[in-house]
Amino acid sequence: MTGKIKKIGVMTSGGDAPGMNAAIRAVVRACAYHNIQCIGIYRGYDGVIEGDYKSMDARSVKGIINKGGTVLKSARSDEFRTKEGRKKAYDSLTKAGVDALVTIGGDGTFTGGLIFNEEFNFPVIGIPGTIDNDIFGTTHTLGFDTALNTVVEAIDKIRDTASSHNRLFFIEVMGRDAGHIALNAGVGAGAEEVLIPEEDLGLDRLLESLNRSKQSGKSSSIVVVAEGDKIGKNVFELKDYVDEHMSYYDVRVSVLGHIQRGGSPSCFDRVLASRMGVKAVESLLEGKTNFMVGLLNNKMELTPLEKAIKGESKINLELLRVSEIMTT
Ligand code: F6P
Repeated sequence: MTGKIKKIGVMTSGGDAPGMNAAIRAVVRACAYHNIQCIGIYRGYDGVIEGDYKSMDARSVKGIINKGGTVLKSARSDEFRTKEGRKKAYDSLTKAGVDALVTIGGDGTFTGGLIFNEEFNFPVIGIPGTIDNDIFGTTHTLGFDTALNTVVEAIDKIRDTASSHNRLFFIEVMGRDAGHIALNAGVGAGAEEVLIPEEDLGLDRLLESLNRSKQSGKSSSIVVVAEGDKIGKNVFELKDYVDEHMSYYDVRVSVLGHIQRGGSPSCFDRVLASRMGVKAVESLLEGKTNFMVGLLNNKMELTPLEKAIKGESKINLELLRVSEIMTT
């Protein structure tokens, strides 16, 4: 694996996700293993433009595999969206002798990387890091598993109050455009209903389902709502609606928010990050560019960045059915 690439830059961009640090560590150590230089780029594409770089060796990433967030910081860059911004980025990377980029983030991060490659023929490999799991070409994005564990733990705690007081809880979880967190955590925490953007349950069916649940003898209920669901009401409006139509329910709302993005990554995310980091570096060394590293059938596979950006990450229909059956 020898070639033109002598120095790789690694950066994190978009929303942080647990496992990003483990991925940075893996990229740095894979570079050290293959005797090439690695630099860390701070604050995503803003840092690329401004030359906010730090040389990283194997020891510089000690003690971060278990840390949430990203030691390289993250940002969404407006300047990189402009051609002038990208030209500055190219000049800055060239000046520092960087030959290739590993970008860790979501589809916005990959879109920036792809355009940059097209304009400057600069090698780029992406690693999917987002708790939403909404990227085509991988069954798991970095942070998804950790976020699920956080959400399930939180719902378990809320359930204590729900069952002690015979209450109905609407719990909002993250997922602007995708219901992966809501559906998986809903099944894992035994929720009565799950509202996700991919399937509009409709208000009438929600009321029916809650009614059935009451009649079947359940005294408390948990409804998990993805923030991007399409029922047409946010969690607080849902509470008002149920208060109005089913006064026998004592309804409360809990919005889990950014606690879902933080915390120490699960073992699954650490292992996945390590595999992805190695695959990203070795793919660049093999002369590959414009791919995203992903987990498919428990193997590291490459998907063209364009497909990863445009492809739809579909909800698991079998899991949806399981969720329905579990509410019986
Ligand atoms: O992309 C991950 C995500 O957690 C979404 O689910 C959520 O809508 C968004 O980030 C929140 O982003 P921000 O931290 O910028 O408010």
